[in-house]
Amino acid sequence: MTTLATLISSPYQRWHDHFQENRDRAGFLPWHDSYRLNARELRLVAPSIQQFQLGEWARGRGFVRRAASHPVLATDSCFVPALQLFIAEEQEHSGILGRFLDREGIPRLTNHWLDEIFRRLRKLAGLEACATVLVTAEVLAIPFYQALRDATGSPLLRAICVRILCDEAAHLNYQALTIGLVRRPLSENARAIRLLCHATLFRSTAVLLWQQHREVFRAAGWNFRRFWNDAGRTFAVLQFRIRQVALGGASSDSFDDLRLD
Ligand SMILES: [Fe+2]
Ligand SMILES: [Fe+2]
Repeated sequence: MTTLATLISSPYQRWHDHFQENRDRAGFLPWHDSYRLNARELRLVAPSIQQFQLGEWARGRGFVRRAASHPVLATDSCFVPALQLFIAEEQEHSGILGRFLDREGIPRLTNHWLDEIFRRLRKLAGLEACATVLVTAEVLAIPFYQALRDATGSPLLRAICVRILCDEAAHLNYQALTIGLVRRPLSENARAIRLLCHATLFRSTAVLLWQQHREVFRAAGWNFRRFWNDAGRTFAVLQFRIRQVALGGASSDSFDDLRLD
């Protein structure tokens, strides 16, 4: 019998190399820039950065445990090492945002109800649920960091947003690979049910995210319709990628054309 393991020849080798290289060239950020947020900017962006700084932080122990025990993916020797590098990259995002908060004299949060909901959801089930919940937040992080970048005059904060945006665009492809491979053995009906559940989670989270961070979006000139449509398009591309992988298609970089400049 042909197993998934024989159908794929370490697609995670590429991701392992990507995360490793990304870490090695972990870019320059203009920490020396003298710009400090003014009172209006502080009021506008501080609560959102606090929340994302907390959300980006994850030890990822549950994710790694689920990954290491997956009957098929764990047979790829690059799968868990790539995941560990991915988690380290997320921790780096949190570290950068934390350093920015410290520099601006904004306290770091230790908990937030939305973060708590997401952490609990990730712990509900197996690897697929974990990756699905995480990628939902990542799809919505894209418009958020785009708006945050455009809402501030701080060159440092703008550079931080661009750096995270580049990483997150790659993360969408990485997560699509995992979710697609996990769904490969499923029937069309089972995949359709998962898509429906994922779309429901995505749309509900989008409403919550807008409600929490609408001031940042508005300051960047976004209205709800633009946010909803942009995030919806990214979600649709993600689903297309997941389906491509689930049906046995080759990996590509569908998110490379996201507007990051
Ligand atoms: Fe991140
Ligand atoms: Fe990410």
